[in-house]
Amino acid sequence: MDAFRIVGGHPLRGSVRISGSKNAALPILFSSLLGGSFTLGRVPCLRDVKTTLLLLEQLGIKNSGCHPAKASEEREDRWSESIALHEGDTSAFEAPYDLVRTMRASVLCLGPLLARRRRARVSLPGGCLIGARPIDMHLKAFERMGARITIHHGYIDAETDGLEGCEISLPYPTVTGTENILMAAVLAKGTTTIVNAAEEPEVTDLARFLVARGAKISGEGSSTIRIEGVDRLDSTDYTVMFDRIEAGTFLVGAALLGQGVRIEGVEHAPIASILDLLSAMGAEHESTPSSITLEAIRRPRGTSLRTLPYPGFPTDMQAQILPLMAIAEGPSSVVETVFENRFTHVMEMNRMGANIEIHGSQATVRGGSRLEGAAVMASDLRASAGLVLAGLIAEGETEVRRVYHIDRGYEAIEKKLEALGARIKRVQEDQP
Ligand code: UD1
Repeated sequence: MDAFRIVGGHPLRGSVRISGSKNAALPILFSSLLGGSFTLGRVPCLRDVKTTLLLLEQLGIKNSGCHPAKASEEREDRWSESIALHEGDTSAFEAPYDLVRTMRASVLCLGPLLARRRRARVSLPGGCLIGARPIDMHLKAFERMGARITIHHGYIDAETDGLEGCEISLPYPTVTGTENILMAAVLAKGTTTIVNAAEEPEVTDLARFLVARGAKISGEGSSTIRIEGVDRLDSTDYTVMFDRIEAGTFLVGAALLGQGVRIEGVEHAPIASILDLLSAMGAEHESTPSSITLEAIRRPRGTSLRTLPYPGFPTDMQAQILPLMAIAEGPSSVVETVFENRFTHVMEMNRMGANIEIHGSQATVRGGSRLEGAAVMASDLRASAGLVLAGLIAEGETEVRRVYHIDRGYEAIEKKLEALGARIKRVQEDQP
């Protein structure tokens, strides 16, 4: 298994181009199951994208630009950023356990399969380390739209004689739930209204993409989205939005060690909550319409933070902000409101010298710590990014193990960090 070996304390300078968003690319790729064809640009070269293309291939979606046969390999060199997809054979409707278990976002095939092929069989995703993560809201919404759903032998079986629009009021603004319903509603008969919809920019990107294909959607980016069903979608050429979590991760890196780090290919609004938090901790930044430059904070100040649905501070940035809080002057606190068990990285950061206590959903960070390099284990995608940042600021050598987690969601992070001046290399675990 791959690990990252990091020698901490080296300043970061220069510019880094932010990749296309994983969480926007995945639903857009799954929407290929709605039929027709399209070309997608700025697709990040990530493990989760490869898994998606492999699953889509099994469901009869052809693509050019990637080689899904290689998708299960540990790593491979990047492919062209632009991928053309078109619907081929439409007889398959199953997303098997082996793929769903490696990527929960596979449930995003449910909505489009039901809408287009009227049948879907999708392995029920299990719990994961950060929480139980049920998909009950997705399933209830499809039932309201006219699907019959049963669960047997770990699989969701869903079928319909044709989905019909209706009002769906979500108990919580679930991100992939909103996306799944949105995709189903695009080809459903009549009008669907999603109340308490997720407002995340990735949901908006999916909606804009679908509108570019001729879907009738309004209210995207707000808590009420209206979709009027259409018979078919047109083809289009679309570019995925930037990855705001990758951007946020590099901004925290800049706040820790930057001597003028410029992140490029970004917009201010989707990362405003991250920039606000860094400002509260003492960082100053300069923005242009497509870049942000940030310097290391000489003495970061402790602060308090709650993770929230967008436009609040993203749960996907919580692990990355902790190293900055650990070295800050004064205490900080973090309340995690989105997932129930998202502090698995804290034990590892404490082994590096941080002083963080967890009480239920709250982490209290003492601050003023000097981090020291250690061998640590990544437990999930964003936790791994937090450990990499901790390693960058730590004294001495850190080995972050199980970085396959990070490869699911960060495009060549070690190469991008190295280009900024970090001492980081990919090695085999336990390699001398
Ligand atoms: C998406 C993102 C993930 C991010 C999360 C929150 C993708 C591929 N993943 O995940 O990176 O961390 O949003 O911003 O875009 N819930 C239920 N029942 C449901 C659905 C959700 O109880 O039917 C709960 C979940 O367990 C969780 C909360 O709602 O506690 C938020 O989950 P949700 O917004 O659905 O997250 P994901 O879409 O899975």
